[in-house]
Amino acid sequence: MQNINSPSFFIGKGGGELISFGSGQPDLAPPAEAFAVLDNYRSFKYGQVCGLQELREALTPVYEKSQPGQFVITNGASEALDLVLRALYVPGGKILLPKPYYYSYPYNVQFAHLEIDYYELIDGKIVLEELKKKLPDARAILINSPSNPTGTLQDREVLKEIEKMAEELDIYVIADNVYRELVYVGEFYQLAGKKVISIDSFSKTYGMCGYRVGYLHSYDQQLVDKIVEIKTHASMNTNVLAQEMALAALKSPRDYIDHHLQIWSERRDMIYNGMKEMGLDLWQPEGAFYVFPKIENANKAINELYYKYQLIAYDGAWFGEPDRVRFSYALDVEKIQEGLKRLKLYLAEK
Ligand SMILES: Cc1ncc(COP(=O)(O)O)c(C=O)c1O
Repeated sequence: MQNINSPSFFIGKGGGELISFGSGQPDLAPPAEAFAVLDNYRSFKYGQVCGLQELREALTPVYEKSQPGQFVITNGASEALDLVLRALYVPGGKILLPKPYYYSYPYNVQFAHLEIDYYELIDGKIVLEELKKKLPDARAILINSPSNPTGTLQDREVLKEIEKMAEELDIYVIADNVYRELVYVGEFYQLAGKKVISIDSFSKTYGMCGYRVGYLHSYDQQLVDKIVEIKTHASMNTNVLAQEMALAALKSPRDYIDHHLQIWSERRDMIYNGMKEMGLDLWQPEGAFYVFPKIENANKAINELYYKYQLIAYDGAWFGEPDRVRFSYALDVEKIQEGLKRLKLYLAEK
């Protein structure tokens, strides 16, 4: 049996008897308006590298006084992260990443030939004192709130303080906002300022993971132009059909998002309460759709859960926390219940 040591082993796996708490992709379909685009769509030519004009125009209300030229539509938030970091390259440049982190961040930083420094989250929260010590040396800090894998939301006051410090120190802030619409407790706070680069995606909000549409926004036009130049030689335009679908999703009634949030809340309560009853130590998610309980020897646990109990969960080590396991609750309540049963059995038998 192959030891499972990367999320790539699981991505795209599912079906049959498998219960997957693995990949963070919504099982809920995109808005009907997005699919309606398919009926009449006939374009097939290259599109603008920076993205569809109408889509960039439709995004301007999200960012105060923004212009369509400040956006780049990308192959998901993943490409936006990659492009932003590559554009920020300076010799010896240091990027401050949260720990635990979304598993791609350290790779993205390394691919951009930048250096990594981590700021530790305590119970999923930023500790300003620690950050203050590290910020002056950094080229950029990355903030992910709500967070994958912790499910926590950072306090508004803390984020405002970071905004202020970054401005004073002339440091970029990369805000990975892909879970901005998935907040159960409190409110999402959008970091703002000249040096803030916002990244968002249609994957989570509109259940469009496989279509690969995300974007970045920055008021720094030189940086945006540099990013477009890199994208020109890396991937060219983002899929034109998928961008039309994203535009239709964006224009669809807000009910879609509100209704889905109720579904996510129900799932969150079920998995959180179920794990608490098993005696697991975990945070109650404030946003996104992950729980991150303490489970010792996480790698052994995820291997056994998969091979013996047909249950997929992700090793906390992939997120920088080897004594935790990440469970995504992007699946229906019956499956969550069945998954919890299997987990309980595993914990009793191990
Ligand atoms: C925090 C975070 N950022 C970025 C991504 C990448 O999303 P996309 O599908 O838009 O590439 C993910 C996906 O799980 C994520 O959790």
